[in-house]
Amino acid sequence: MLSSLYSSYTTSLIIFSISFLLVAYTTGATNFYNEFDITWGGGRGKIAGTGDMLTLSLDRVSGSGFQSKKEYLFGRIDMELKLVPGNSAGTVTAYYLSSQGINHDEIDFEFLGNLTGDPYTLHTNVYTQGKGEREQQFQMWFDPTSNFHTYSIHWTPRTIVFLVDNTPIREFKNREAIGVPFPKNQPMRLYSSLWSADEWATRGGLVKTDWTHAPFVASYRNFKVKPSVKSHSNMTRKEKIRWVQKNHMIYNYCTDNKRFPRGFPAECTV
Ligand SMILES: *[C@@H]1O[C@H](CO)[C@@H](O)[C@H](O)[C@H]1NC(C)=O
Ligand SMILES: *[C@@H]1O[C@H](CO)[C@@H](O)[C@H](O)[C@H]1NC(C)=O
Repeated sequence: MLSSLYSSYTTSLIIFSISFLLVAYTTGATNFYNEFDITWGGGRGKIAGTGDMLTLSLDRVSGSGFQSKKEYLFGRIDMELKLVPGNSAGTVTAYYLSSQGINHDEIDFEFLGNLTGDPYTLHTNVYTQGKGEREQQFQMWFDPTSNFHTYSIHWTPRTIVFLVDNTPIREFKNREAIGVPFPKNQPMRLYSSLWSADEWATRGGLVKTDWTHAPFVASYRNFKVKPSVKSHSNMTRKEKIRWVQKNHMIYNYCTDNKRFPRGFPAECTV
């Protein structure tokens, strides 16, 4: 008993120190060559020039993706993304933190494309110990394809906040006190990929990817990681989240009766 306690303590201590070191290293805008590996896509993912920009592309043959070289445990991660412009129906740009294994934790942004002029859907989810089903979806109050916008994840032991251009849109609080697991022991890598999911992505699969518009391209710049500063839930944040959720939220698992006929997940009831 004592030895297993001790070893789990040292393991967390080691994980904590490693992640602290990793996080402490990286402040300020970073070089994509140093931070990321293009992991698939046969040349469709590219880091440009001096390393200040990365693009993913998708055509009929393949999409593409990248992942961070480092792992993170807590911190604030910012990235500017410019999504696939024009007719992006059927395309999905995923941008997420994830650990590995069946009991993995995951913090997701997913951007579902649309026909020219129709709004993108920003899909969010949180997996803890391998279990997700915590979707919330939003439409942006701007056109996410005409310019770069900053998408952030602020992850502390107490809470996970999703932000868009610094406006918090969703908070997933640590509710371990009522039995809901919270991601806090497994370091995560940052992943992104661009692929076609036209069997479900746009209007539930009714609108297919129009390959005459390929290649589809999403762009990334200004990746930043800051060590996590203590994050208290405060009134400003609550008010902003309330505003976003009132005006821009189009789906919330916590109000989807049909999906949870036997009662909502515990975190929905507090
Ligand atoms: C695309 O636009 C239509 C029409 O405004 C909307 O109903 C739909 O939610 C949008 N997003 C997706 C991913 O289908
Ligand atoms: C309150 O929340 C806002 C929005 O997330 C943040 O910018 C601000 O720093 C927070 N203030 C405090 C005192 O934590």
